[in-house]
Amino acid sequence: MCGIVGYVGKRNAVPVLMDGLRRLEYRGYDSAGVALVRDGQIALRKTVGKLDGLQESLLAAPLSGTPGIGHTRWATHGAPSEANAHPHLDRSGRIAVVHNGIIENYQALRAELEAKGCTFRSETDTEVVPHLIAAALEAGAADFGEAARRALGRLRGSYALAVLFLDEPDALYAARLGSPLILGHADGEQFIASDVPAILGRAAEVTYLEDGELARLTRTGAAVCTLETGAPVSRAPSRVDLEAEAASKAGFDKYMLKEIHEQPRVLRGLLQKYVVEPETVALPDLGPAEPLLKSVDRITVVSCGTAFHAGMVGKLLIEHFSSVSVEAELASEFRYRAPKLAGVPLVMAISQSGETADTLASVRLAKAEGRPILSICNVAGSTLVRESDGVLFTAAGPEIGVASTKAYTAQLMCLALLAIHTARLRGEMSKEQAGVFLEELQAIPNAVHYVLARQEQVRRVAMKHHSGPSALYLGRYFNYPTALEGALKNKEISYQHAEGYAAGEMKHGPIALVDEYLPVVCVCTKTESEVYEKTLSNVKEVQARNGRIIALATDGDSALADIAEDVLFVPPTLEAFSPIVNAVALQLLAYYAAQARGLDIDKPRNLAKSVTVE
Ligand code: F6R
Repeated sequence: MCGIVGYVGKRNAVPVLMDGLRRLEYRGYDSAGVALVRDGQIALRKTVGKLDGLQESLLAAPLSGTPGIGHTRWATHGAPSEANAHPHLDRSGRIAVVHNGIIENYQALRAELEAKGCTFRSETDTEVVPHLIAAALEAGAADFGEAARRALGRLRGSYALAVLFLDEPDALYAARLGSPLILGHADGEQFIASDVPAILGRAAEVTYLEDGELARLTRTGAAVCTLETGAPVSRAPSRVDLEAEAASKAGFDKYMLKEIHEQPRVLRGLLQKYVVEPETVALPDLGPAEPLLKSVDRITVVSCGTAFHAGMVGKLLIEHFSSVSVEAELASEFRYRAPKLAGVPLVMAISQSGETADTLASVRLAKAEGRPILSICNVAGSTLVRESDGVLFTAAGPEIGVASTKAYTAQLMCLALLAIHTARLRGEMSKEQAGVFLEELQAIPNAVHYVLARQEQVRRVAMKHHSGPSALYLGRYFNYPTALEGALKNKEISYQHAEGYAAGEMKHGPIALVDEYLPVVCVCTKTESEVYEKTLSNVKEVQARNGRIIALATDGDSALADIAEDVLFVPPTLEAFSPIVNAVALQLLAYYAAQARGLDIDKPRNLAKSVTVE
């Protein structure tokens, strides 16, 4: 949602903070700011808009000092403006705070503080924090740490915070409740960040702050205590295992394009990691979920956005290969209805970031009912992973582009492996059958490679169709979620309205939209089931109404070549695994549509990479 950084060390904090913010900009980018200690004062610089604005302001009027904190914002309370940008100060200008999360009781706290004479400069929920800390100091808190603990004890909601005190200029404070925060450790320098990529190449070790903890960082190290009692917490830091290169663009124009191109490598890596013999899958971190997979009748999957589409494919895969019944649920709906988990012994959560608020809330709801959680996640130290009983890591590396690409196909690959593994555990698939399916799966990275090799053709098709106001995406069975995902990718980065629909449902309504202007993307790859023929009939229904058909077809399919205005060919695959390959073609289609429209592909408007608030 928002990105936080902090630095304490010998160096000027500004370049370190700016570099960290640059790598966190995917989390939010409607305004940004830094605060640091300089000449016995807290110096503040804030700008509206993307980080480039702050960079320009710092070039025009340089700042230097240390320690410092910084923030890139995705507005929740108060419009994007300089006043609402973080850091926020207390009345005296001696305490600066940056925040990610939502303080639910800020209005009551603000009224209380105003009644005591505080003047607020912003409309944000965050500004209550520096005022509350100042009030705790005035009320006699023994030290800055205690003042912070007393103040934070008054907050309801979620936060990751970094706090700078002018009167303790050799330290920084960091606290977490419900929003991610990490501490980076290097020789003579300490860092605070919302996410590991912000400190890659700077800190060799990292501590994942837990909910309800406060850290005090000085040049020589970090001391962690509980927010509730101040009792020291001891936790050994972990080694940072991500290569700095993984967070760079590696020569591509955009992170999204780089991440689209990483997919064959990521998929191959997953096969190498989890297929231990030609017929055997081993998923070492499933924990208590592994024995459950042998006996369960039902599984509920919770996830959001693109990860929800992965959940839909996961349902189809598991039901296709085994006798387990699976429901795929939108976490944002699941958490607010009265889900009946009585007959559901296992809940699965899918998330790239492992920090999505609705997914975490659903997981906590299921845990409260005693259900073990199996998560499919991309971030090893994330809250979801830490709260799960078993994990299947997607190992896709950092995904920086806001639109999810490689994490999605990695989720699909993991789900395919899980489905095969489940069927084997239950005795519902023979070793030989598993060998056949795994061989098909082994061919997927190359098929994706082949789609990428034809990106120029996809670009030409996107150039033709990007300018209309709307597009329809159709697919069936395994590729109904592909249609939904293709439409989501298109609308989120190209801002062309797009609707994904089950092809068989088109005649129940959306067919009224079809005219000679409407691009209709039909996912109609050859399948071993009757679905292909059925979808082909739907494509013909679009043709009969003069719709502009863009077909996703299997190599050599001349039937579609005759009907469609444009055809994007993909290699033949097993129907169950085709969503992996087809998704890549539709990612490219959306990418080039957004490029043709001249948009900021890696940072589409109004979006944030990790949705850590409801
Ligand atoms: C779309 C996209 C989002 C995320 C969703 C869940 O391209 O990236 O829809 O899929 O916000 O995020 P995670 O997977 O981090 O839980």
